[in-house]
Amino acid sequence: MISKDIVQAAHLLENNEVVAIPTETVYGLAGNIYSESAIKKIYEVKGRPSNNPLIVHIGSKDAVSNLATYVPNKAKVLIDKFWPGPLTLVLPKKENISNLISSGKDTVAIRMPNHPETLKLLQLLPFPLAAPSANPFGSISPTSAVHVANYFENKIPMILDGGECKNGIESTIIGFNGEIPILYRLGSISVEAIENEIGSINIHTIEEKSPNAPGMMLKHYSPKTPTVLVPNVIDAVDYYKDKKIGILVFDSKINNPLVVHQEVLSTTSNLEEAASNLYAAMHRLDKLNLQIIITEQFPENNLGRAINDRLKRASQK
Ligand code: TXA
Ligand code: MG
Repeated sequence: MISKDIVQAAHLLENNEVVAIPTETVYGLAGNIYSESAIKKIYEVKGRPSNNPLIVHIGSKDAVSNLATYVPNKAKVLIDKFWPGPLTLVLPKKENISNLISSGKDTVAIRMPNHPETLKLLQLLPFPLAAPSANPFGSISPTSAVHVANYFENKIPMILDGGECKNGIESTIIGFNGEIPILYRLGSISVEAIENEIGSINIHTIEEKSPNAPGMMLKHYSPKTPTVLVPNVIDAVDYYKDKKIGILVFDSKINNPLVVHQEVLSTTSNLEEAASNLYAAMHRLDKLNLQIIITEQFPENNLGRAINDRLKRASQK
């Protein structure tokens, strides 16, 4: 059921249920971090392997001290600058955080989302919410309540409708080796914006085996339709001319009658706008029974890097 009733969402969460919640990045599948049965339901509904830890969502900056034993100075700088917002920090966890949430790691991922309804919900509740993106493991993340309903309508009691997600791409994840920051997942806050605050950072985003973050697995964020990422879309359309083709491009339409459907992410060449439209465009393309989705490399700067990261994983066989 899609609903805007925050009190009802709180009631369900207090009763160990799983509720989909809106955030500024993507929708999440949320449960009480202190309820073993809620956390188990999250993994079950999502079909997520239990070795992939969950992000804990908090309603105030102060709540970090209930979850983490230590906050490096650079993490404090990032919290001041970017919370509430699309930044997740991986910090040494307190013992009361269950191994189900952290997948047995000694760290916990935390963020304070910037979405008015979800902040209200978190402030109503006496506990934080664990929430992975509200999609089956490996598939395209949801940026609207309807996307979530298409995946999980009959599996969860409620989807809290908070409209379309503004940023449209997941949070940037940063962990620490002692005081040294490491970026684990490119996301809605660009590397440039982070480095502007804390200086240069190590980037460590691709890993196949026992990943620190499942978003790091090479195949991820995938449409059902075969997808290719190519240097030149016009040539690729010609190459795939016998197939039913859809394309996903940055800023300009392709004039070619062979293309059944095209998604232009930002006619003004704005990378933030493109990021915000990315998953909705992928969901639309994936519903058209196309035989191939052709997509192109975006500019490799600012949010273009996160977009390229998602397209690379979406097109992985
Ligand atoms: O924008 C977002 O971050 C969204 C919204 C709902 O907040 N959530 C999201 O969750 O993208 P999920 O589960 O799809 O991705 C969370 C990522 C995973 O790649 C996971 O491995 C990583 O966070 N993560 C969680 N705990 C971690 C930890 N202790 N160490 C390293 N990575 C961790
Ligand atoms: Mg996800």
